[in-house]
Order: sequence, then structure tokens, then C-alpha cells
Amino acid sequence: MDLNTVGVVGCGLMGSGIAEVCARAGYRVVVREISEALLRSGLNRIEKSLGKAVTRGKIGQGQADQTLGRIRGTTALDDLADCDLVVEAAIENMSLKKEIFAELDQILPPHAILASNTSSLCITEMASATGRGDKILGIHFFNPVPVMPLIEFVRTILTSDETMAIAHEFGASLDKTMVTAKDTPGFIVNRLLIPYLLQAVQVYEDGLATREDIDTAIKLGLAHPMGPLTLLDFVGLDTTLFIADAMYDEYKDPRYAAPPLLRRMVLAGHMGRKSGKGFYDYT
Ligand code: CAA
Repeated sequence: MDLNTVGVVGCGLMGSGIAEVCARAGYRVVVREISEALLRSGLNRIEKSLGKAVTRGKIGQGQADQTLGRIRGTTALDDLADCDLVVEAAIENMSLKKEIFAELDQILPPHAILASNTSSLCITEMASATGRGDKILGIHFFNPVPVMPLIEFVRTILTSDETMAIAHEFGASLDKTMVTAKDTPGFIVNRLLIPYLLQAVQVYEDGLATREDIDTAIKLGLAHPMGPLTLLDFVGLDTTLFIADAMYDEYKDPRYAAPPLLRRMVLAGHMGRKSGKGFYDYT
């Protein structure tokens, strides 16, 4: 199957990054947001990111212009009707995702593949909202999408070999390294990352060390690009809590139980970088 047009549902942090890397790889991209204001802000984020890529010498101005020219924004899901592959990157809400999957199942051509960028929700449940379970999989990107080299594929018991082969061709065309996991909460990366981040919050809450020392210890002792509390602020405390709760809900394992401080910080609106305050102050 020839992949020419890629649809992206959602133009937030992840959706805009996914739209950008797909357009950079030469695909025509149709990206859908629920309002003109959100769409404009998502497209601005893409323009800014391309500008940064030009400044850093990753691409030329001509390539940035061509990339932008390949991206069409819309607020109508119907405009995805010509897509060969769609990546859903809407908010992490299962009933919303199932609605989107069911609608797209009606709109998309029969050959089209439908993927979710969810970081923890059940792909099989999304597939159950469609009549094309063999063409459904998880394609999980990492933030920032243009920089992080990994894609995690999530294969359900319904996903066909043909769909996996096309997904691999797609991932390779984006110049990403690919790994494949079964459809279980957290897949590979978050299954390991979430207990580590939760433990970092616990260690901080217990007063073992300052937040700076916890981050410095991991950054320099383990050569990580960011310490865990900085990474929590980067990922979003609300996002981390959502993933942890989803994993705890499924496994009932204390390794995925959020420490009280994390839940209270989210309740207080301290979501990390995006809200201006998390473990550190960004205002
Ligand atoms: N397009 C292309 N390249 C870009 C770019 C863009 N828009 N923006 C930056 N880059 C490149 C830079 O040119 C630079 O490349 P070189 O190393 O070749 O010079 C590289 O990306 C790093 O950029 P910066 O120098 O601006 O930033 P940095 O060195 O401070 O790194 C970071 C920033 C990449 C975010 C780094 O701190 C990092 O890797 N942090 C960890 C991020 C992480 O763990 N992400 C995963 C989160 S978990 C997730 O996403 C999934 C989930 O389900 C929760």
C-alpha cells in the first residue's frame, strides 16, 4: 500500500509534533483540531519548531517552507477522508477516543490504518469501536517528537501482519527507531518510567534530598538528559498522574500507585512547565 496522506487528530504538543515529522518526511498531512483557536496555536507551534530546526542547521529554510506547505489544518473530521493512515493524538479520554475511532471508521477508505498515540490506554478497546480491528495499532511518539528518535508500536491480538509491515515502513520513513510492545498499560517505556518517576516524588516527599540534588544525582550519576523531577515537569504532572492511575487501575500493583504529593500538586494546578509551576518555577 502507498502511504501518501497522513491524518493527525489533535494538534496539541504531541499532535503538532507528529504532523511536523510526517510533513518533513514528505507526506501530505491533514491535522484536525476541535476549534479554530486550538488549530491556530498548534500550527504556530509547528512553525516555531521548524524555525528552531532551521536555526540549529537541521533543515534549510526551503525545506521548512515545503514542510509547512504540506500541512493542512481543519476542524472537520470529514476532511480526513483521503487519508491512508491516521494517528489519533487527542486528549487521554477513552470514551472520546472511541467516538473518534468509530467516526473515522465510517469516514476513512477501507485500506486506511488507524493508530492511537495514547501513552497508556487500551488499544484493543479503541479497536472494538471500529469494524477494522486488523488495521488498528498504537503508534506512540515521544516528546519532543522532532527530536526523540523512538516510536513504540503497540500490537493488539487483532492487528494484522500487513498492518505491522506498513507501520514499520511508515516509521522508517520518519527516520525513527521502532520497538514493538503488546497492548498492556504503559507498553515498554511507561511501564518502566512511571514507577521510577513515582519513586522520585516519594523520595522527595520523604525528604531524602533536595529536588536539585535528586535531579543532579540522576543526571550526572546515570547520564540522563534530565533528572526525574525536571522530567516530571516536562511531561506534565497531570499526564504522569493519569498514566499512573490507568496503570494502577489495570494492574492493582503498588508500584503504580501515585504518592499523595503528586495528586495534591495536580489538584493545586502545579502541572509542571505548561502551568508555569511544578517541582520548579518557570514563571
Ligand atoms: N527540530 C529538530 N531538531 C531540534 C529541534 C526541532 N524543533 N529542537 C531541537 N532540536 C535538536 C537540537 O538541534 C539538538 O540537536 P544536536 O544535539 O544535534 O545539537 C537537540 O535537538 C537537543 O536540543 P536542545 O539543545 O535545544 O535542547 P537540550 O540539549 O536541552 O535537550 C531535550 C532538550 C531533547 C528535551 C532533552 O533534555 C531530553 O532529551 N530530555 C528528555 C526528554 C524525554 O525523556 N522525553 C520523553 C518524555 S516521555 C514521553 O514523551 C512519553 C510519555 O508517554 C509520557
